[in-house]
Amino acid sequence: MKDRVLRVQDLAVHYKVREGGLLKPRVQELKAVDGVSFDLGAGETLGIVGESGCGKSTLARALLALLKPSRGRVLWLGEDLAKLSDEDLRKKRQDLQIVFQDPLAALDPRMTVRDIIAEPLWTFFPKIARVQVDERVRGVMKMVGLLPNQVNRYPHEFSGGQCQRIGIARALVLNPKLVICDEPVSALDVSIQAQIINLLKSLQKKLNLSLVFIAHDLSVVRHISDRVMVMYLGRAMEISSRNNLYKKPLHPYTSALIKAVPVPDPRIARAVTDTGLTGDMPSPLNPPAGCVFHSRCPYSVKRCQLEVPALRRLENEDWVACHRAEELDLTIKPR
Ligand SMILES: Nc1ncnc2c1ncn2[C@@H]1O[C@H](COP(=O)(O)OP(=O)(O)OP(=O)(O)O)[C@@H](O)[C@H]1O
Ligand code: SF4
Ligand SMILES: [Mg+2]
Repeated sequence: MKDRVLRVQDLAVHYKVREGGLLKPRVQELKAVDGVSFDLGAGETLGIVGESGCGKSTLARALLALLKPSRGRVLWLGEDLAKLSDEDLRKKRQDLQIVFQDPLAALDPRMTVRDIIAEPLWTFFPKIARVQVDERVRGVMKMVGLLPNQVNRYPHEFSGGQCQRIGIARALVLNPKLVICDEPVSALDVSIQAQIINLLKSLQKKLNLSLVFIAHDLSVVRHISDRVMVMYLGRAMEISSRNNLYKKPLHPYTSALIKAVPVPDPRIARAVTDTGLTGDMPSPLNPPAGCVFHSRCPYSVKRCQLEVPALRRLENEDWVACHRAEELDLTIKPR
């Protein structure tokens, strides 16, 4: 890959959880992220999609070294984040920023917009002049579509969409190279979602940002992503270019998610009831052996229950973790 900035190799985050109540407590391992690998280029947007609990936020936090990996590595510009000293990691954090799901909850209600956006500047440059801070804060407010004369207001005086713009301004104030957006539009009205996605897309282009955009739903990441990674029970099932993934997915789980995307026309929506998925998502404390998706996969064969499919690269540069990827034709029929 040209201009690679982020390299993730076999990344795993396993939590220790207590099970069994007070009388017979036992500690179990929950594999929230289990062997995820991918690269990200400068100015590239990777969409990450998967059902609730599949490990998206855990992955996001591990990418930013907010969590210690149980296995594997996160290389930022070639350096393993886990091996940096605290001081070097602190410096690197200037490049790596995050936007959270619930904009109002992520902003301190007692702080003005100026102080919320300026806080990272004070943290990284304690001696910075007030006039420089004000100039920068006003600059990023304009960049995200907020009025700089609202700088003395408090978060509760803004709508959900505006609060998310404040969160984005705060993430951009240090001029980062990578921004991870963890479900940045899930808490917003549908009409506002498109505005925030368009804003992030235009900022990404203008600033040549690398972006990781996390969502539940494949339709949300479609417009903004160059490539999309589909996760299931802590693993990457497929990483494909946007053009390939929505037309001819490689993994049966991706195909089921595409079929599950809501259709605005109710006549068509009624017709699309069969996603091919069977059963519920298994407990992450007790994932199926072999392919983790086999208990719900309509194409499962004996081998799938025995052997974990490796995430492998195909000739067209897309990645898939399915034993049968080459023989299945999962082309999506136009609705
Ligand atoms: N601190 C923790 N300790 C133990 N288990 C955790 C912890 N944080 C998350 N988990 C578990 O790890 C799994 C992955 O959680 P995570 O929040 O990463 O999923 P997610 O894909 O972001 O879900 P959502 O879409 O609901 O935000 C879940 O089973 C969750 O219950
Ligand atoms: S490896 Fe088998 S169970 Fe897993 S997705 Fe492929 S066909 Fe389905
Ligand atoms: Mg999450």
